[in-house]
Amino acid sequence: MSERRRLRVSGGRAPIRRRRIGRAEANVRREGVGNPEPRHHLQIVRESDYTDRHEGETRPMTLLIKNADIVNADSRYTADILCEGDTIARIDRGIAAPPGAEVIDATGKHVFPGFIDPHTHIYLPFMGTFSKDDYETGTKAALVGGTTTLFEMVCPSRAMTHAEGFALWRRQAEGKACCDYSFHMGVTRFDADSVAQLREIVKAGVGSFKVFLAYKGAFGVDDGELWKTLSLARDLGVVVTAHCENETLVSELQAQLLAAGRTGPDAHHDSRPPRVEAEGVNHLMSFAELTGATVYIVHLSCREALERAVAARERGVNVFVETLIQYLVLDKTWAEKPGFEGAKYVMSPPLRDAANQRVLWDGLASGLVQTVATDHAPFDFVGQKPMGKDDFTKIPNGIPSLEDRVNLLWTHGVKRGRLTLEQFVAVGSTNAAKIFGLWPRKGVIQPGADADLVIYDPSYRGRISATTQTQNVDYSAFEGFPIEGRPAVVTVRGQVAVRDGTFCGTIGRGRFLARTPAHTARDR
Ligand code: URP
Ligand code: ZN
Ligand code: ZN
Repeated sequence: MSERRRLRVSGGRAPIRRRRIGRAEANVRREGVGNPEPRHHLQIVRESDYTDRHEGETRPMTLLIKNADIVNADSRYTADILCEGDTIARIDRGIAAPPGAEVIDATGKHVFPGFIDPHTHIYLPFMGTFSKDDYETGTKAALVGGTTTLFEMVCPSRAMTHAEGFALWRRQAEGKACCDYSFHMGVTRFDADSVAQLREIVKAGVGSFKVFLAYKGAFGVDDGELWKTLSLARDLGVVVTAHCENETLVSELQAQLLAAGRTGPDAHHDSRPPRVEAEGVNHLMSFAELTGATVYIVHLSCREALERAVAARERGVNVFVETLIQYLVLDKTWAEKPGFEGAKYVMSPPLRDAANQRVLWDGLASGLVQTVATDHAPFDFVGQKPMGKDDFTKIPNGIPSLEDRVNLLWTHGVKRGRLTLEQFVAVGSTNAAKIFGLWPRKGVIQPGADADLVIYDPSYRGRISATTQTQNVDYSAFEGFPIEGRPAVVTVRGQVAVRDGTFCGTIGRGRFLARTPAHTARDR
């Protein structure tokens, strides 16, 4: 798409211009984030490369997918995919099944690289309670929904060191994860010990940080801590993911609304209106510009915030933008449902006026927005959300959706003509792999990549329901929503982990993915 093309946004207001790209983004875009260009991955490998084996050698697990309509972020073609052990060994036409191989005929289906959710919470002590999933239920749900790699935010309390926090989160996953995973290291304070500990955590394979410009008194950092975190990240080439809301505005507005008797879930939006988010984005942009750090705005929800990010990008700030599936398919009227029903839809930033959905879909299609995540944070409607029955500021924030992201993005994106198949792969998988240093191991179907594959059935018709979901929470924010496709088979590094909506993989097979920082470093 031409750099000169303008993005029309709804409501007849000024268009958000497609941006000039920043330095770090240019590094990534050389390899194609959000910029699909036709490239052919069909590899011709000699038969002898596969068959020349030594007598008695144990064969790795072998899987042959025939007649695959292979969709990458930058290409689409039909071929067979041979997976040996953990990786894709060969892609070609007419591959004969090796002895002992499992053969799957993918005729009539699409084959996508495993989807990547760059923002989830599986273990989250938050607002006086704990999110409901653990690594077993959370990663099973991810896989059933076509997500084969997830990133979790490590969110240590301010009383904990970073080293303690990292160890605690790693323990949650070990032996339980069914799909591969990585972490963004939450920097929830910055003191004398932080630099050495964060450097060690980066060396251990965590190439990204997380900061909260909200949640005063909990995870939130002050401006000095933000400056130091971004400076360290710039030196290490680490990308800093950030929750952008102005916490002073949030607490003042909350107090004002409560004093006026607005205690229900519908008040949540007005305590965090678009201007609060835009102010948070602007704040981050100023700090990123002056430190030279690369940043990634998590869960961007509205036009006002996107305008701030795009303006910063145009002046050279290295910034990526994530939105969530919730903002694309739900709007604020869901949180205004009568009684306490709206509590199911309380998250931060809040669900927005429906006009923002067009802005976000257009942003994904034009490359202004790079990724779609879930910010999965499951809290039960019975027993947890009612902690805020008489005071909306105490409703545990979060709308679970790890299991539903891919099918909703497919149904509302590809099937409604808002995204091409290639864009669907880019925003659901490839871009996250590139931004966070997993590409080309993840996010692409090509020889040498991990054999994380989603054989997607576009003829499936069904409905989302809490009664059939795998994620461990007692409601679905998308109850009754139709889906027009679903994964028929999902593989994790060559092993079939899901068939027809049911998990059949191995608990504990998921691996921690060690990453090296993917952005320009000053002193690495
Ligand atoms: O409402 C949300 N987003 N809950 C999870 C915590 C966070 O801010 O990411
Ligand atoms: Zn957040
Ligand atoms: Zn989050």
